[in-house]
Amino acid sequence: DCIPVILSGGSGSRLWPLSRQTHPKQFIALTSDGSSLLQQTWQRLQGLATVQPPLIIANENHRFLVAEQFQQLGVTPTQILLEPVGRNTAPAIAIAALYITDILETDALLLVLPADHLIQDVAAFQQSLEWAMAPALADWLVTFGITPTRPHTGYGYICCGEPLPEPHAHRVTKFVEKPDGATAEAYVQAGNYLWNSGIFLFRAQTFLEQLGQQQPQILQQCRLALQHGRQDLDFTRLAQEPFSQCPSISVDYAVMERTTKAATVPLECGWSDVGSWSSLWEVTPKDELGNSCRGDVLTYGSKNCFVHSQHRLVTLLGVENLIVVETTDAVLIAQQEASQDVKHLVEELQRLE
Ligand code: GDD
Ligand code: MG
Repeated sequence: DCIPVILSGGSGSRLWPLSRQTHPKQFIALTSDGSSLLQQTWQRLQGLATVQPPLIIANENHRFLVAEQFQQLGVTPTQILLEPVGRNTAPAIAIAALYITDILETDALLLVLPADHLIQDVAAFQQSLEWAMAPALADWLVTFGITPTRPHTGYGYICCGEPLPEPHAHRVTKFVEKPDGATAEAYVQAGNYLWNSGIFLFRAQTFLEQLGQQQPQILQQCRLALQHGRQDLDFTRLAQEPFSQCPSISVDYAVMERTTKAATVPLECGWSDVGSWSSLWEVTPKDELGNSCRGDVLTYGSKNCFVHSQHRLVTLLGVENLIVVETTDAVLIAQQEASQDVKHLVEELQRLE
C-alpha cells in the first residue's frame, strides 16, 4: 500500500499576479482542463490499485481552499495536516512520516508529491511509480530522475550509479541541489546526471532513520509538534511552538544530499515544474508564431509571447518574448528572460506595502 503525501505549502511568488499569498499557484487552474495543480496531483494517481486517500500538508491559512478542492473531487483525504508557519519540505515530510508511523500505525509507503507539477503522460508516470515500489520496500529512498535537457539551476541533480537488483532502479552516488550554472552545465555534458523531479517514494521508517541521523533536531521538533497538535474539524493543527523551532530546510539539502540510501528510477512523462511564467509558456500550446494566449487576447505581428487576460481585451502589437498577465487589480509585463525575477518584484511590493 502507499499513501500519497501532497506538499501544498509553497507560495508560488514567481507566478504573481495570478498566484497570491492568499491563493497560491497550486490552487489555481493554470491549464485549460479546469482543475488546479493540487487537484491534478491527486487525479493522476487514479487507476493505481494500491493508493490510499491522500495526506495533505499545507499552511493553516489555506485550510478551506484545500478542503474545498478535495470536496469538489468527491475525495475525503486521509488527513489535512496544518503548519502554523512554513518550514520548507524536510519538516513537512517528517510530519507526514510521523503521522503514518505513530498515528495511522501502518507500514504503508509514503509517496511524496509536490503540488506544482504538470505531467503530460500519466500512464508513463504510473509505470515509474510501479517500478519504484520494490526498491522502496527494500529500504531505499527512491527519487524519480528526469533526463535533463538544459543546465537548469533551479533543480536538484542526481548522479546515477550502478544498477540495483530491483529492475529499473539505480543507486544514487551523488545528489546536488540547485548547483551553479557551470556545475549544472558540466552535469548535463557528463550524461550520467538526472534532474530530481521532487517526487519521492520510501518507507516512513527508512526516511525517519535517515532524518534522525542527518537532522535530529527536525525529528525531535516534529515529534513534539505532532504530539501536541490538536484536531480542529477535519484538520490536524501542528503545535505552533515546537514546529516553528524547526530549522527551515528542504528535504533535498537536509537528507538527499547526505544520505547513502538514495536510489533512482527513470521518469519520462513530459514532466515540468511550473515554477515561472516562461516555464508555463514552454509547456502550453502555441500558435504558429509561438504565442500562448488565454482569455480575451489579440496579437498582431508579435512572437513568442505568453498572454493571460482575466477581465479585459489585451492586445499585443509588434512585440516579442513578452509575458503579459492581466488580473482585476494588477498587470504584469515582463521579458521572458526575467521570468525568474518576478519573485524579487513581489518582495519589493511587500516591502513597500
Ligand atoms: N507543506 C509545505 N510546507 N509544503 C511546502 C513548503 C512548506 O514549507 N515549502 C514548499 N512546499 C511545497 C511546494 O508547494 C511544492 O509543491 C513542493 O513543496 C516543492 O517545493 P518548491 O519550493 O517548489 O521546490 P523547488 O521546485 O525549488 O525544488 C524541488 O523540486 C525540484 C523539481 O521541481 C527540489 O526537490 C529539487 O531538487 C527538484 O529538482
Ligand atoms: Mg517547485
